[in-house]
Amino acid sequence: MNAVRELMKVFITRRIPEEGMKILSGATGVCEVSQWDSDEPVPRAELLKGVQGAHGLLCLLSDKIDAEVLDAAGPNLKVISTMSVGFDHLALDEIKKRGIRIGYTPDVLTDATAELTVALLLATARRLPEGVEEVKNGGWSSWKPLWLCGYGLSGSTVGVIGLGRIGMAIARRLLPFGVKRLLYTGRTAKAHAAEVNGEFVPLDTLVSESDFIVVSCSLTPETQGLCDEAFFSKMKKTAVFINSSRGAVVNQEDLYEALKSGQIAAAGLDVTTPEPLPTNHPLLTLKNCVVLPHIGSATYSTRGVMSALTVQNLLGGLQGLDMPSELRL
Ligand code: NDP
Ligand code: DGY
Repeated sequence: MNAVRELMKVFITRRIPEEGMKILSGATGVCEVSQWDSDEPVPRAELLKGVQGAHGLLCLLSDKIDAEVLDAAGPNLKVISTMSVGFDHLALDEIKKRGIRIGYTPDVLTDATAELTVALLLATARRLPEGVEEVKNGGWSSWKPLWLCGYGLSGSTVGVIGLGRIGMAIARRLLPFGVKRLLYTGRTAKAHAAEVNGEFVPLDTLVSESDFIVVSCSLTPETQGLCDEAFFSKMKKTAVFINSSRGAVVNQEDLYEALKSGQIAAAGLDVTTPEPLPTNHPLLTLKNCVVLPHIGSATYSTRGVMSALTVQNLLGGLQGLDMPSELRL
C-alpha cells in the first residue's frame, strides 16, 4: 500500500490574479494553501501567524521578509516566491543562511514598466496633469505663446541610471523621439548598450549633462539615497528627473527643495517612500511633480503573467525542481 504523502504548507500573502491560482489549484497532491484573501496587505501579525510551519511563501513587494518572518516560519521553509522583480524587501543574507530558495519575476514586466516610465516622462516634461487640471478648472482662457510649455525629447541628452532590463527597454523606446545622446551609469559598462548607442559615463557626468534623467536601477545599499541634494544641485535647471525604480533611491526632502527652488524643472515618480505617499506630503503640493501610485507593471496581461510565474517558481521550489526564474544567491 502507498504511504500517504503529507501535503506541504504554503502561505500566500495576498489575493493574486487568477492565472496563478489556476496553476496552483491544478497542482493537486503537492501543497495545501492558506491565503490572506484580500486586496490589502497582510497585517504583520497575520503574516507571522500565517507563515508558521510553511514550506513555501508567496509574497509581494509590500511584505518585508526579514529574520523575524523566517524565524516564525521555522525550518520547513524551502522557497520564497515574490511576485516582483525587485527583491529589496527580502533579507537576502538571512534567506541564504537558511538555504531557502527565491523565485522572482524578471523580464515578464519589462515592457509594461518601460512603457509606463516613458508615459510618465512625457506627462511630466509636457505638463499633462497640469494641462488637464486647467481645462477642468477654467484656467484655459486662450491659446498663449508660453502657457504650459515644457521640454521635448528631440535633440536631447537622456541619462539612464541602471541600464538593466528595464533601463534598456526605456532607452529603446526613447531613441525614436530624436534623442541625440544616451548616457548611462552603473557598476559596469554593458555590451548591450551598443544597441542604443549608450555611452558609459561617471554618475557626475550623467547628472550634469542630461536633459532627462531616468532612474531604473535596483535598490541596494549603494543606490539608497543616491539622488540627494548634491545630485540635484549638479542637474541642469531645465532638466527633468524620472524615477520608476524604488522610492528609497531618492532623498525626497532634497528633491522637494530642488523642485520648489527651481534647481530642476520637474520630477515624475512612480515610486515613493513610503507607499502610499501620505496625501499631505509636500511633494504633492508642487505643480512640477507628477506622482503615480507604483503602477509600472500594471497591465492586466503583465500582472497575469507575473502571477503565473510566481506560482510556477513556488511549485518548482517546493518540489526541489528547477524554478523558471530563480534568484541565485
Ligand atoms: P536589472 O537587474 O536588469 O537592472 C538593474 C540595474 O541596476 C542594473 O543595470 C545595474 O547595473 C543597476 N545598478 C545596480 N547598482 C547600481 C549602482 N550602484 N548604480 C547604478 N546602477 C546600478 O533589473 P530590472 O531592470 O528588471 O529592474 C530594475 C528595478 O526596477 C527593480 O529592481 C525594481 O526595483 C524596479 N521596478 C519597478 C517597477 C515599477 O512598477 N515601478 C516595475 C519593475 C521593476 P550594474 O549591473 O552595472 O550594477
Ligand atoms: C517589481 O516587480 O519590482 C515592481 O516594483 C512591481 O511590479
